[in-house]
Amino acid sequence: MGNQACSSEGCCAGDEGQVTSTAADQSALEATQVLEDSSACPRKDDLGLPTVHDKTYRVRLDKRSGEKLGLDVDFMEGRTILPIMALTGGLAETWNKANPLTPMQKGDSIVAVNGASVDVVAMLDKCKNDSVLELTLRTQLTYEHLVGDLEKLVNQKSCGPILVRLSWHDAGVFSTGRNAGGCPNAAMRFSDGGESKFGANAGLPEVAIPLLSNISGKYCPALISNADLWALAANVSFRLMGGPDIITRFGRADAKLSTESVPSQDNRLPDGDKGADHLRQIFHPKGFQDKDIVALSGAHAIGKCSLDRSGFDGAWTAEPNKFDNSYFKALLEKSFSPETTNKGKPQYRCAASNTIMMESDMALIRDPGFKRWVDTYAADQDAFFADFSESWARVQELGCDSLRDIL
Ligand code: HEM
Repeated sequence: MGNQACSSEGCCAGDEGQVTSTAADQSALEATQVLEDSSACPRKDDLGLPTVHDKTYRVRLDKRSGEKLGLDVDFMEGRTILPIMALTGGLAETWNKANPLTPMQKGDSIVAVNGASVDVVAMLDKCKNDSVLELTLRTQLTYEHLVGDLEKLVNQKSCGPILVRLSWHDAGVFSTGRNAGGCPNAAMRFSDGGESKFGANAGLPEVAIPLLSNISGKYCPALISNADLWALAANVSFRLMGGPDIITRFGRADAKLSTESVPSQDNRLPDGDKGADHLRQIFHPKGFQDKDIVALSGAHAIGKCSLDRSGFDGAWTAEPNKFDNSYFKALLEKSFSPETTNKGKPQYRCAASNTIMMESDMALIRDPGFKRWVDTYAADQDAFFADFSESWARVQELGCDSLRDIL
């Protein structure tokens, strides 16, 4: 269910109009070219999502002339594309001279070679061994375009908070306790069971994943896994909401079935109606101590609780799209009274600002081990951002091996 948007290959391939160019040297290069703007695809737009752009075109290179190919491509396991790193003369340059309006460029990606697609090893093999290459390429499948598309989405839909929660709950199921295991693997994409059915995840499969559908449809798995996309989307969101610029590392593998979910949310994801002991019980087996628990809870500066999802009701701060240390200031400075929501959940409300706290939030000022960090972060936003960035990066990498620094 993650990739509901149609891909350009899948839905538009039959509509492609072919333009035969007048290539100068047909013996070395047969210039049959297809150009198509896949933003014309009927991508899922019932959420009013910003459009994502990419184009597909075809190139035919005939190696029988003896000329070298002239293409340096990047190979990365797990990807289904070969991004062009450089053009180095040869047939590629000859092609570009004959097709100046639609040249192959650094940053475009080869998505199929002589009928082979998805399997990049087979694609590379064909590049080496076949004498005539029918290449299908796509534009705008780069990290920079991906970040640009995420920025457009977060700005237009103000959806940073729910994207943060998506990444948190994808990774936060990790535990070294009973039934050890779990890691960020985007298992919530599957609607037939597993993590998408956890009560604690209410709203994430229904709202957060569809918000990303145009972007995942374009980039996953070609350039990035869904789990990496969710991590990156959260970090782009923090930056756009005024928070720290958190580095994302890559290489999380996607679950292929809902059965790759952890067995249950119990002892893995925290409950809002419980206190300090519960928080420690949940976070310690993930490797997080008091300081981490407080810093991470500072994410409640953004977003809100929804009656129809968690049963809690309201936002923690007056500006729920701004990431700062206002959550800690609210805990120390505002006066909260207990109430019960229409869904029967106990929570606290400040009448003056109409903002809320849950029992788990109040635990941070009631427990002395936690309170000292609330004091620190309320007084010093830089200290909060530094500690948050460090703890959050560890959350996003729980249970992951050998992540890499670049996509
Ligand atoms: C400390 C224990 C925590 C508890 C008990 C808790 C509980 C909750 C609950 C009940 C909601 C409301 C969900 C809804 O109604 O849609 C919520 C929202 C949220 N949580 Fe937490 N959470 C905790 C920690 C965290 C952490 C570690 C992060 C990230 C670092 C986080 C980020 C968020 C965000 C951004 C939202 C708002 C989502 C939105 O606006 O849709 N939470 N949390």
